[in-house]
Amino acid sequence: MSDKLIIFDTTLRDGEQSPGASMTKDEKVRIAKVLEKMKVDVIEAGFAIASVGDFEAVQAVANAVKDSTICSLARALDKDIDRAGEALKNTNSARIHTFIATSDIHMKMKLNMTPDQVVEQAVRAVKRARQYTDNVEFSPEDAGRSDEDFLCRVIEATIDAGATTINIPDTVGYNIPHQFGATMKSLIGRVPNSDKAIFSAHCHNDLGLAVANSLSAVLNGARQVECTINGLGERAGNTSLEELVMAVRTRQDVFDCDTNIDATHILSASRLVSSVTGFIVQPNKAIVGANAFAHEAGIHQDGVLKHRETYEIMRAEDVGWNANQLVLGKHSGRNAFKVRLAELGVEFDSEESLNDAFRRFKELADKKHEIFDEDLQALVSETQTEAINESIKLVSLKVCTETGEENTATVVLSVDDKEQTATAKTSGAVDATFSAISSLVDFEINLQLYSVSNVTQGTDALGEVNVRLEHNGRIINGQGADTDIITASAKAYIHALNKVMAATDRAHPQV
Ligand code: KIV
Ligand code: ZN
Repeated sequence: MSDKLIIFDTTLRDGEQSPGASMTKDEKVRIAKVLEKMKVDVIEAGFAIASVGDFEAVQAVANAVKDSTICSLARALDKDIDRAGEALKNTNSARIHTFIATSDIHMKMKLNMTPDQVVEQAVRAVKRARQYTDNVEFSPEDAGRSDEDFLCRVIEATIDAGATTINIPDTVGYNIPHQFGATMKSLIGRVPNSDKAIFSAHCHNDLGLAVANSLSAVLNGARQVECTINGLGERAGNTSLEELVMAVRTRQDVFDCDTNIDATHILSASRLVSSVTGFIVQPNKAIVGANAFAHEAGIHQDGVLKHRETYEIMRAEDVGWNANQLVLGKHSGRNAFKVRLAELGVEFDSEESLNDAFRRFKELADKKHEIFDEDLQALVSETQTEAINESIKLVSLKVCTETGEENTATVVLSVDDKEQTATAKTSGAVDATFSAISSLVDFEINLQLYSVSNVTQGTDALGEVNVRLEHNGRIINGQGADTDIITASAKAYIHALNKVMAATDRAHPQV
């Protein structure tokens, strides 16, 4: 059995299926570049047939990344596979991941197909995918609730048809570690041609067991795990890449395999995904949460200072903590700025966009003397956001607050290049700002979430605001950053409104 554990990251596909987590093409490319730097083996870049935007995003990731295999998801349908194949045409190393459901409930209620038809369609899909690439993955969707004899049958047939990876999804997060591990072992043992494919685990976190189930699968022969940064994904999410990778690495006494991951990029990947999607990382989240390596109780601190291993099982710096050096300041030049951003995986497609980002950097450096990587990430997110589909732009904002008085916000927006002004008066400065802005747009929106966090330390830090809006049943997140949190709030709200206006229909692979 190989001692290499393949890391298949699906942040850009399954992660993006999380309501409100949709990403633009440029955001996907930025995340993919960090994943490549981290030495992720396979990056699932999207579901190419979902929309023109999804197709172009898969293509853009495939063009930008050279060292990781790029994968597109495809249902077991000719048109899906052809679209995936086309999107991956110029890729160094391409994989098509095709799937069809195999549980009784999915076959009956969703597909309305017999088991024989499902096997036939799965085989046909794998054969068609092999016309585009030798690297084909097949997933029996809802394997976690499928009949094992039927799973053996469909897996054997798809390996015969040319599948090189067999992924076992616990689609609804129903499995329990010892049982999922036993299923993995049994499938590998029972399927006669199992030695011709790598077996993979794809777990959802509905019972909080995605990482545990994946680790159990690894202990029982899986040599690929599908995961996402910060555990992003539908409902309770997917297996968290950082937790999985660090568990295997920290417990090499238990696992007889390891990943190629360069874990020092984990924290920056986590922050980037959080800032792009607006999904905040909880402080007590393992590995990447703000408290993950913070020792508060005096006794712990004393122990750690005397001998680190008394209370620490991993070194914070090994996953990218403390790498947060002061990188640039007021006097840094354009080249230093460009080089540092390239190190963070950000490249500019034109001199104009570099100049625009540099101008914003100088403005920020005037307000905030110490500029950290996180500030640069926030600044680039904003620059890229504004470059796309912006029909609403913030021209100016004036807010008056006085203890005991109502707050007044006056906003000037450019809506489709026409300046418009509105004023609102309410008990809160943010509320007044949002009311003024929404009075200038003519569609219904419900604010579902509002949160502020500081990007770095100190009272002069950039404040990052996340808002979540609901419009006609669609969930949309917006982010904004500024040293002034009311301005950051206005930017976040406007960002979400622009996304509402630009939203297009896209197919969901599993519905
Ligand atoms: O959870 C799932 O079953 C999936 C498949 C498409 C692999 O994401
Ligand atoms: Zn999934």
